[in-house]
Amino acid sequence: MAKSMENNKAVKMLRAAEEGGYGVIGVVSYNLETITAVVRAAEAKKSPAQILLFPWALHYSPLLIHLAAAACSTAKVPVVLHMDHAQSEEEIIAAAEYPFDSIMVDMSHYEKEENLEKTERITKYLHERGIATEAEPGRINGGEDGVKDTGDLEGLLTTAEEATRFVDTGIDFLAPAFGNVHGNYGGVENIKLDFERLDKIREATKGKATLVLHGTNTFPDATMQGCIKGGMTRCNVNELVLFKYNDYVAKNTGKVPLTELMGKGTDLIQEQIEYQMDVMGSTGKA
Ligand code: 13P
Repeated sequence: MAKSMENNKAVKMLRAAEEGGYGVIGVVSYNLETITAVVRAAEAKKSPAQILLFPWALHYSPLLIHLAAAACSTAKVPVVLHMDHAQSEEEIIAAAEYPFDSIMVDMSHYEKEENLEKTERITKYLHERGIATEAEPGRINGGEDGVKDTGDLEGLLTTAEEATRFVDTGIDFLAPAFGNVHGNYGGVENIKLDFERLDKIREATKGKATLVLHGTNTFPDATMQGCIKGGMTRCNVNELVLFKYNDYVAKNTGKVPLTELMGKGTDLIQEQIEYQMDVMGSTGKA
């Protein structure tokens, strides 16, 4: 029997964020340290949170997915599991066998009509299984570790008209391209977001899908808060919470015991996540 979308935890979490005017952190997770840090931070801050895995996890080891799912089901506050940037139908079908609350149907490397057709068909497939979907109309530039490189495809800014067409496919979350970039902006001065465009996209999608933010590397607090004011509900972070950890691991691997490396590393990620929960206004909202 088809599962209902009524009780989807990710949809509920992001609708509550939209109503409450705060953002929920979505942490790109590659390992045990990050997953542990998400749960600890969420519990310490009494904040909702999301663990994000890339399709890389499917190929690396399903154990990472089971670990993340267990972290969500045992957390004392709402923490949900999202597959980010699933770029092929095969990966999405494989991911749907695991307890993901939502999956990003990222067909942005196809031309618009093909992106729409695939998004609609796969959304139906996932909804029948109680899994929420996210799509990316337009194309966010850049790339990151764990996501298949789509080559030199040019970035395309999302229009309100496109956003409407994508929302009509039945998706739950929409990731607009409004100047945001994956990976490195090459300096804070290069973060140039088109908030007027974001306003129009929000108008076109309001009440039908919630907006999610990609590409937050080196975001100043005010920029993050501006995006949330503009309607963003989940804010995806990667380097923004991992940079101290990455630096610490680079400097200390082989020099301190592994237990210390993992323990201190986890603390460094947790600190950054907690900081961002305050910035996003989700502290105390669980
Ligand atoms: P970046 O900020 O590095 O792009 O990571 C967050 C993200 O958007 C993942 O989809």
